[in-house]
This record gives sequence, C-alpha cells and structure tokens, in this order.
Amino acid sequence: MCGIIGRVGSDNVVPYLLNGLECLEYRGYDSAGIAVHTENGISFCKTVGRLAGLREKTENEKTSGFVGIGHTRWATHGGPTETNAHPHFSHDRKFALVHNGIIENSNELAETELAGVSFNSETDTEKVVHLLTKYYNGNVVETISKVISLLKGSYALGILCTDYPNTIFSTAMASPMVVAQTQDGGFICSDAGAISAYSKEYYPVKNGEICVLNDSSISFFSPDGQPMEKQAVKIDVDELTTDKQGYEHYMMLEMLQQPTAIKKTIMPLIKDNKINLENVDITDDYIQNTLREVVIVACGSAYHAGVVGKQLIESMCKIRASAEIASEFRYVDPLIDEHTLAVFISQSGETADTLAALRLAKQKGAKILSIVNVSGSAIANESDNVIFTRAGREVAVATTKAYSAQLAVLYALTLRLAKGKNMLAEDVEKKMIHELASLPQKIQQTIDKNIEKAELYANKFAEATDIYYIGRRLDYAASLEASLKMKEISYIHSEAYAAGELKHGTLSLVDPGVPVVALAGDAEIFGKTYSNICEVLARGAHMLVVTNESNAELVSEFEDTFIVPDTLPQFNVSLQIVPLQLLSYYTAKKKGCDIDKPKNLAKSVTVE
Ligand code: AGP
Repeated sequence: MCGIIGRVGSDNVVPYLLNGLECLEYRGYDSAGIAVHTENGISFCKTVGRLAGLREKTENEKTSGFVGIGHTRWATHGGPTETNAHPHFSHDRKFALVHNGIIENSNELAETELAGVSFNSETDTEKVVHLLTKYYNGNVVETISKVISLLKGSYALGILCTDYPNTIFSTAMASPMVVAQTQDGGFICSDAGAISAYSKEYYPVKNGEICVLNDSSISFFSPDGQPMEKQAVKIDVDELTTDKQGYEHYMMLEMLQQPTAIKKTIMPLIKDNKINLENVDITDDYIQNTLREVVIVACGSAYHAGVVGKQLIESMCKIRASAEIASEFRYVDPLIDEHTLAVFISQSGETADTLAALRLAKQKGAKILSIVNVSGSAIANESDNVIFTRAGREVAVATTKAYSAQLAVLYALTLRLAKGKNMLAEDVEKKMIHELASLPQKIQQTIDKNIEKAELYANKFAEATDIYYIGRRLDYAASLEASLKMKEISYIHSEAYAAGELKHGTLSLVDPGVPVVALAGDAEIFGKTYSNICEVLARGAHMLVVTNESNAELVSEFEDTFIVPDTLPQFNVSLQIVPLQLLSYYTAKKKGCDIDKPKNLAKSVTVE
C-alpha cells in the first residue's frame, strides 16, 4: 500500500506535501518523492527511506511551487530505490504521476502498447505515464479515459501535466482516493484523515471516475469522459488522525484506547439490553430457514479475530462455521452459496485479498456482512451489510484496538445468531449482554494490573530468538494474535501452537531458557493445558502463564504470570490479549525497534 497527496494552492505546496506524506507514512515508508509545477516545468525530488530524507533534500534543492503531488511507497514491483520511487515521469517530462495499487498487465503493456519504449525503473507504474504520452491529444481527461481502459488491476493516480500547470488530475480503481476543495484550490489524498486539517468534507473518487482539480474548481468525469456530479462526504471526526497525545508511540496510545474503542463499538449494538443489529439484513427467518454455514474471511489479526468468531458461532449457535485466510480462500473455489453468511473482517477496509474474497463470495450468492473500521472504504462500499467497529483511526501498523473491537462485534453477531436459532435462553442472553457491556471496564483493570509486569518481563523476552505461545480452544485463538503482535514489532521469531500439538514435533525446539507463553484461561480444560505447561517446563522453558483471577492460585508456582479479571469464557480472549500486546510493545521498545512502523510492513496491504 502507498500514500498519495496532492495540492493546488496559492502558497508553497512543498510543506503541505511533506506534512501530508508524514500522515500517510503508515501506508508505506520504503521511499518517498514529490513533483511540483515550476515556471521551468515539473521539478522532482525523490529519496529512499523515511520521509526525513526527503524533507532535507527538498530544503537543499529549494523545491517550491503552488501545485504538486507526493508519494510514500511500500515497494511491490521493483525494490525500494530512488529510481523506483514515485513520482514517475514521461521521457519528455510533460507528465508526472504517482500511483497506489498494482497494474497487473504492466508487462503485457510494455510488450504491446509500449513496444520500443525504454523504462527508467522496474515499476509497473512507469508504464502508465508512458501510455499518457502515447495517447495524449491535448485533452488530459480524454487521454486518461483512454489509458485507464487499457489497465488491469488496481490504481489510484495523481497526475501533473505541464500544459495545465495549475491543475491536478486523478482517477482510481479499487484503491482509495479522495478530493477536497479549499478556498485557494484543494487536495487529492489516499485518505481523508490526512487532509482533515484543511477540509471537513471530501469527494471519494469511485472506480473509473476522473477528477480535475484546479485553483478554482473540482470537476468529475465518468470513465468514458462524460461530465458528472458528485455529493461531498463529511469527514467522520472519530476517524481523524489523533496525535500521539503525549505517548511515545501510537501503539501505546491505541492499546490504552481499547476500553473506549470497545465501548463505542458495542454500545450501538445493544438496545434495551438486547443485541440490536437493526442495520444488518439478518432476520430470524433467514437464520432458521436459509442459513446453513458462516464463513469468516480475513487476513492477519482480522483473521485471528475470525478464528474466535468461528469457535463461538459453532459452540453457541450450533451453526457450522469456518475462519478462512482471504489469500487462500479466493483461490480454492470455496463451496459457498446462498445458504452461506460470508463475514469479512478488515480494519482498513482496503486489504486486497479480503476485497477479492468478498467479490468471489458475492458472485457465489453468499449473503455478505463486513466488519470494518473505516467508513467509505472499498470493503464497506461493496458489502450488502456492514457493522462498523468504532475504534477510531488506528495508525500503528500493529493493530490492537481495532482487533479488540472486531472481537466485540463478533460477540454481538454470535448472540444475534444464537437468538435467531432459539439457542439463547433469556437468562443467558441477559447475563452475556451484561458481561459484554462490562468488558471496557475489565480491560482497563487488565491494563492497570499488568502494564508494569509487561515492562518487567520484556527484559527477559528481548534477548530471545524464538518464543512459543500455546493454548487450547479460545486460548489457542488468542495465542495466534499474541504471537503475531510479538513477531511483527520485535522481529523475534514466534509461533502460536495448539498446546496439545506441541509434543507432536515442535517440542524438539524447546530448549532451556526458551520463552513459552501459556494461555490457560479455559477453566474447563485447565488441567490439560497445565499438563502441556509441565511438558515444556520439563525441557527448561522460561514459562509465562496467562490466566484468570479464579485460577490464580493454580499458577502461583510460576515466576511470571499475567492475571486477568474473570469473565465469561466466550469473552476471555478480549482480556488475555491485552497484557500480551503490552509485552510485545515493551519487548520491541527494549530492542529499539520502530514500533509504529515495523520494517517491511504497511498498515493496510492493498496489493496481493
Ligand atoms: C496486524 O497487526 C497487522 N497489521 C496485519 O496482520 C493486519 O491485521 C492485516 O493486514 C489485515 O489488515 P486489515 O484488517 O486492514 O484488513
């Protein structure tokens, strides 16, 4: 995923571009660059690495102008080099272009449409700028319309043309792009939060639409170049970027925001002490007479939330359920149909594999429900039904509050389905809804009780080269997310394992001193997990046990423990994950890692 910003204005555009790119760095940070209209044509400035380098270079080169585009990159086609950095330009320097997405037929275009054209970079993007040159007839909108008819894949494009020095052109297909007007011009941007300081409303550029932004107007054209009208969208204040509010990292801020995130998410879903999914078209009749299977599809942490949902739906609703990794699901020709409820979970709402899986499920006739944190995102826009997590803007690449909010929505969905199946007695429903509403407070208690221990234990984990997380049933589901948190920000190899499975091979890797985190919250099978703890202890593992207050006595023999408040077993993951998020944070901090922007990663993977 990459970040795009562009501005038409009446003062030096460079600071706006650099500040905008800083807000967009979470989308990718391998390299960055800007292109600016000057009286001598388009001026370019590009660097590899983080934005600070670009700031310094633009100052040294005294780059300035009123109209420009900027880009921060997460490398896909072509490594993170200055040549591959955006913006890319035509050989005659008439066009400059920035791109977010993947042109899937770029090689084919190079051999056909662009036969004989030389390329400066290894990127798919550069082909587009040469196509603009090839088809340019003086009318940039007509030229863009022709060029995008040749493209396959995803793109959000920002384009400068020397014949129109006070204008930015943009278009998009399955990649986010918004346009906002200001007194002296306006912005194009990959997401509205990054320009919210300048405009409180924006126009989303939908698939194939072309936008022309200049110092006096915004105009839109359909994919075939016909003028069209659009409605502006108000920016949702909750989704705006907050600063770090004094914390060293967004991740710490966002972990501490989890009680509020869950409260904001769950409260709209509870009405008169009942689950209220009124905006979701799932009726009792559908549940009882049509629904036969629930398939939950996502990537990464969202997939891990789905694993929790799968277990709860099967155990509480007696409806067959599965959790599928989106990048696998979309290629296995899944056996789903009109009797399937397909649930897509995504914080960003832009994850390419999840979006593609959604489209496949829709083609196969499944009922679509998405759980998304960003309104106006591609997945939200293409879903029949959406339940929004209200975690607020999440900037740290390692998700915490959004994952927790996804769990809360899955709890509500499970209760709704159980109710529809007449599998939820009144007293149980009341008890569960009451406990659901108490989760924010219990998460706060969990943070308060464990944050200091997490910082202390991190000193022991920071030296590790391998860490194992083990658990059974929902404890196992939690261990998947705990392991990902650790590896993605501390760069320490970690694995989650079903506790009963460890002895079937991986136990051979547990040597003296190897940290093993045992999640032992499932009281019903605590004894089984305890046996697995003994197995790894016998091999000299450094043990850290996570359990609930009612089991605290049973684990008092262990030096390192996280004790979380008691809650219903169905909701325990929401508490167990919190100290393990904190442990990962402090371990990464101890190692001096870039916690909010881990190497090689991006906040949303909008490429396959
Ligand atoms: C988790 O910390 C990662 N940021 C990553 O696994 C993420 O959950 C995954 O890429 C899915 O992103 P999405 O929720 O925006 O679709």
